Amino acid sequence: MAETLDFLLPHPEGDTQMLALKQLTKAFGGVRAIDNLTVSFEPHRVHGLIGPNGAGKTTLFNLTSGTLRPDNGEISFNGVPITWWNPWNIARLGIGRTFQTIRIFPKMTVLQNMMVPYGTDPSRSVELLEFVGLREFRDAPARELSYGQQKLLEFARALVTSPRFVLLDEPTAGVNPILVEKIMGHIRNLTRDGKTFIVIEHDMKVIMNLCERIVVLHNGEKIADGPPEMIKTNQQVIDAYFGD
Ligand SMILES: Nc1ncnc2c1ncn2[C@@H]1O[C@H](COP(=O)(O)OP(=O)(O)OP(=O)(O)O)[C@@H](O)[C@H]1O
Ligand SMILES: [Mg+2]
Repeated sequence: MAETLDFLLPHPEGDTQMLALKQLTKAFGGVRAIDNLTVSFEPHRVHGLIGPNGAGKTTLFNLTSGTLRPDNGEISFNGVPITWWNPWNIARLGIGRTFQTIRIFPKMTVLQNMMVPYGTDPSRSVELLEFVGLREFRDAPARELSYGQQKLLEFARALVTSPRFVLLDEPTAGVNPILVEKIMGHIRNLTRDGKTFIVIEHDMKVIMNLCERIVVLHNGEKIADGPPEMIKTNQQVIDAYFGD
């Protein structure tokens, strides 16, 4: 399959890509959603981003994709400071994302939904629909897809601009186990082809299975960072989930 998807391959300079957040802070009123956070993500990996509800995971994505502005700190991608860039330019630089709550257009067809990102061409959209197994639904209104298929559509749409770095906010939440396996398989294949992922996920089985490295947030701070085996037994992580 991968040979027919050349456009998914990393750009030649892809080896140096890296996302780095430095002393990043974002508060909402009195709540520090992200609190003086320093963390970086290396190329060609699947990173897990976990933490209890309200830990700041989605806020980290919003800051990285330009949807939110930090109060303090810096974000750089491949050495380029992108802290104040707008979402369109960040997307054009090669960072793609999905949203925690589904954002498809229900009355538009599946293919039209794929065409929403600026500059998308139809053949690329169809190839990606094929890749996620939704090609046969291309002309159906998106609302006719099952919830899991809608998540797959969003996943495919996040890839349509050929991002090198992909942020997935709970891609498997509410999705049946068969489609979860599919999504995980796609993430693995795309990583093998050179892409980089950060995946927010509450299902520990999925995260432990999929990720080579896991970053744990709690109250906007990084409390652990390492391979799954290390995270599983980390006392601070266990306390964060079960302590309060
Ligand atoms: N736009 C906003 N306005 C006000 N408060 C916000 C906003 N976005 C996030 N917050 C608050 O910031 C904190 C972090 O929220 P965030 O959505 O980043 O958490 P999360 O780790 O993604 O949680 P979940 O696992 O429930 O999705 C929470 O206390 C949340 O209520
Ligand atoms: Mg969230």
